Amino acid sequence: MTNTHPTPVSVLGLGGMGTELARALIAKGHPVTVWNRTSARTDQLVELGAARASDPAEAISASPVVIACLLDHQSVRDTFDDHTEHLRGKTLVNLTTTVPGQARELAAWAACHAFDVLDGGIMAVPPMIGGPDAFLLYSGPREAFDRVEPVLAAFGEARYLDADPGRAALYDIALLTGMYGAVAGIIQALALVRAEGQPSAEVAPLLSRWLRGVAAAVGVYAEQIDSRDYAKGTVANLAMQTTGFGHLLDFAESQGVSAELLAPLAELMRRRVAEGHGHEEVTGIVEFLLSKGSTS
Ligand SMILES: NC(=O)c1ccc[n+]([C@@H]2O[C@H](COP(=O)([O-])OP(=O)(O)OC[C@H]3O[C@@H](n4cnc5c(N)ncnc54)[C@H](OP(=O)(O)O)[C@@H]3O)[C@@H](O)[C@H]2O)c1
Repeated sequence: MTNTHPTPVSVLGLGGMGTELARALIAKGHPVTVWNRTSARTDQLVELGAARASDPAEAISASPVVIACLLDHQSVRDTFDDHTEHLRGKTLVNLTTTVPGQARELAAWAACHAFDVLDGGIMAVPPMIGGPDAFLLYSGPREAFDRVEPVLAAFGEARYLDADPGRAALYDIALLTGMYGAVAGIIQALALVRAEGQPSAEVAPLLSRWLRGVAAAVGVYAEQIDSRDYAKGTVANLAMQTTGFGHLLDFAESQGVSAELLAPLAELMRRRVAEGHGHEEVTGIVEFLLSKGSTS
């Protein structure tokens, strides 16, 4: 593909995700330099036209935009700490999953060494990179984002959030947390079906459809949590839900399917009802999560 404004980009970290990021940049016509701790992982990208750097300093020096996609915050520090002089005046886009405090620490370190850091959260798995469903969250200096957005567009929708460097990491963690909660429910549901000897494949499309409908409630839940008015717009009161959910878990146990994945949620719901909030939505249990004594 012809790119009329090809920006040289370096990618450090070529695991499953970093490899797809580099591949997407090459496909968009950017001159790409790659580095990976285990050098053999650069081979397939070199075949596609990337330049191989023998160490992080060489990779950083090659491009004004440097992408990091490493295992964790520590591996980012291990890779970049000794090369701040090569980063001066450049933009480091850290797509490594971190927590907000780590993103802020990296931004403060960058400010001391006169380069910009954008922190990014990738809301995609590697095969989605460059496709219509991938979106990435960014925070850090707005000018830096505007400057490199044409590069970032290669990965998927680039969504800028805030100058606070920690915001992308916070939302990344929030979205992943939501995903794992859903994963727990999905696995429990498919376990129930398998325990009855039914194929999971048959219920899977129904479950997908149902979860899309359930996802529509996120906005209502958010309003209740922001306003602390957990009865606002209630469509399924907590007392009813607690009774029903208890029956689901009893059924699981009777089928020989452990209820341990979801039992903590049921317990919080029961406590909330016992404290007189049965008329509200399930969102009220957030009060237990935000107070230290949630297990009392
Ligand atoms: N895969 C996904 O679905 C996905 C989705 C969203 C976000 N992410 C995030 O993307 C990042 C990379 O994920 P991945 O799937 O590519 O992981 P991965 O396949 O396990 O690759 C990890 C990468 O980090 C490198 N690395 C680990 N420790 C290092 C160190 N101390 N110094 C230098 N390099 C080091 C590895 O180098 P070697 O090859 O030498 O081991 C490899 O390049 C993670 O932060 C992950 O949370 C991944």
